[in-house]
Amino acid sequence: MCGIVAYVGPKDAAPILLEGMQRLEYRGYDSAGIVVSNKGLKVRKAKGRVADLAKLVPASFKGKTGIGHTRWATHGVPSDVNAHPHLSSDERIAVVHNGIIENATELRNKLQADGVVFVSETDTEVLAHLLAATVDETSTLEEAVRLALKRVVGTYGIAVIDSQRPGEVVVARNGSPIVLGIGEKEMFAASDVAALVRYTRQVVHLEDGELAVLKADGFHTFASEGLETAKEPLTVDWDAGHYDTGGYEHYLLKEISEQPETVARTLSGRIDERFHVSHLGGLNMDPRETRSFRRVKIIGCGSAYYSGQIGAQLIEELARIPADAEPASEFRYRNPVVDPDTLYVAISQSGETYDTLAAVQELKRKGGRVIGIVNAVGSAIAREVDGGVYLHAGPEVSVASTKAFTSTAVAFALIALHFGRVHDLSPADGRRICAGLRKLPEQIEEILKQGDRFKELAEKYAHHPSMMFVGRVRGYPVAREGAQKLKEISYIHAEAYPASELKHGPLALINPELPTVAIVPDDELLDKNLTTLGEIRARGGKVLMVGHREPEADLADDVIVVPKNEIELDPILLTIPLQLLAYHAAVALERDVDKPRNLAKSVTVE
Ligand code: F6R
Repeated sequence: MCGIVAYVGPKDAAPILLEGMQRLEYRGYDSAGIVVSNKGLKVRKAKGRVADLAKLVPASFKGKTGIGHTRWATHGVPSDVNAHPHLSSDERIAVVHNGIIENATELRNKLQADGVVFVSETDTEVLAHLLAATVDETSTLEEAVRLALKRVVGTYGIAVIDSQRPGEVVVARNGSPIVLGIGEKEMFAASDVAALVRYTRQVVHLEDGELAVLKADGFHTFASEGLETAKEPLTVDWDAGHYDTGGYEHYLLKEISEQPETVARTLSGRIDERFHVSHLGGLNMDPRETRSFRRVKIIGCGSAYYSGQIGAQLIEELARIPADAEPASEFRYRNPVVDPDTLYVAISQSGETYDTLAAVQELKRKGGRVIGIVNAVGSAIAREVDGGVYLHAGPEVSVASTKAFTSTAVAFALIALHFGRVHDLSPADGRRICAGLRKLPEQIEEILKQGDRFKELAEKYAHHPSMMFVGRVRGYPVAREGAQKLKEISYIHAEAYPASELKHGPLALINPELPTVAIVPDDELLDKNLTTLGEIRARGGKVLMVGHREPEADLADDVIVVPKNEIELDPILLTIPLQLLAYHAAVALERDVDKPRNLAKSVTVE
């Protein structure tokens, strides 16, 4: 959500912080601020984007230790004063914070009773004052942070500097990510590796409850009880180039266009043509164990959940094991029955979504076996699960998920193949699925070539205030994801329904003003889907059909034809036109495509 960057070393901190913050802006972006230490603390804060803040930072803003923050408001409206960093009243301590301090009101009341004057409405400001109250009693800044955090209930990723200890930054994590970056005689920290890769690819992820003290010549990490912890640096594969728009007008278009390569990467080295099976080393599961699971339960949030619905369908069809998907945010609150015969699969692009992480932790507490399908290597969910599949889709910067969605569906096809081939999926069907998977990158390329057609259609439909999306069985999660993409980036209201459910209620909505996007794959349900199109048209509804061929009768106003794969894999390809329709509709409506209002890329709070 919000973004944190910290630097300590021989260079001026401000340009490094601002550059890192710009790379994190996709996580939260209603205000920003930085502080550097140079004979006292120098602070600049501004409502708006990092670029607005950068205009307020003069060349004379020098200091070799600093912390910065991009904010997405939770407590207090976006404003200069509520922007981080927050300072203690004596301006000795500065803090930036991601997360939510749940007992902020109680702490604030106590501090106010002691005479502390608050200047902002944020929960974070209590941290600055708590630290100021503690720092004189301790010999080190990390000790002051450790003691102050003992009084805090909630989630946090924080970075702290003390004007009396220049050359030192203390960071801490509990529920909100903090990654250290190891440079040559310089250290960095951030809430996301995106802010670090320009400077270093050697990183260390903090665990919940851990603190770290950073100095130019290295770092130490501690558990919340004060004992030092040992950390192995990890090398990240992604470099700064992965975070550029690569000549595209928007990250979203770049990420949609990358899908032939990202899908190929998800598949790479994982298909065994000889035995028509998949090799997923990360699952750590031999055939006997694989056979021991009687059900699969998939959890994830938003688009990750919809990709999980495609996954459940694939597992049921290919492996004939009951499988279903549920929003992780709901699952964790309903005291789920955790069954030892069920394999739990948690999906997360960022690997940091708090609801999904909390659901995984609850599952583990109850003895559930959880694997992950995750894009961000080393992220919290990746570390929490008992193995899984990395997507290797590369960083997804645009807030709306696209390439991670398709790669997740592909990862599920590989998992379904793995399960299928130890159950009853025949070698012939295994071969058919392997061949289908291999064809996907080329077929995605074919869809992308129809670029102008999506633009034309999006412009034709974008003036409608609302759209209906329908699909049956395999097509239904595709419809849900199509509606999700459209609403989140174009702000057009969109509703997805199973086509079979239309006449049980939503058909009443159909009229010439409410167009329907219908997912109509060429499968055993084709005739039923075509009947639904007839029903919509009979009520005067416009139909934009996405399928594998033009219908024989006049059942659609417009048709997008996508290449045919195996029926089980078709949902992956049918999703891509919907991403492009949403993208071009958002552009036509002049929306902020990569940073839609009210949304953040990774939701690290409840
Ligand atoms: C929609 C979107 C969100 C995410 C959801 C989960 O385009 O991006 O719905 O899919 O917030 O995020 P991750 O996958 O990072 O857990």
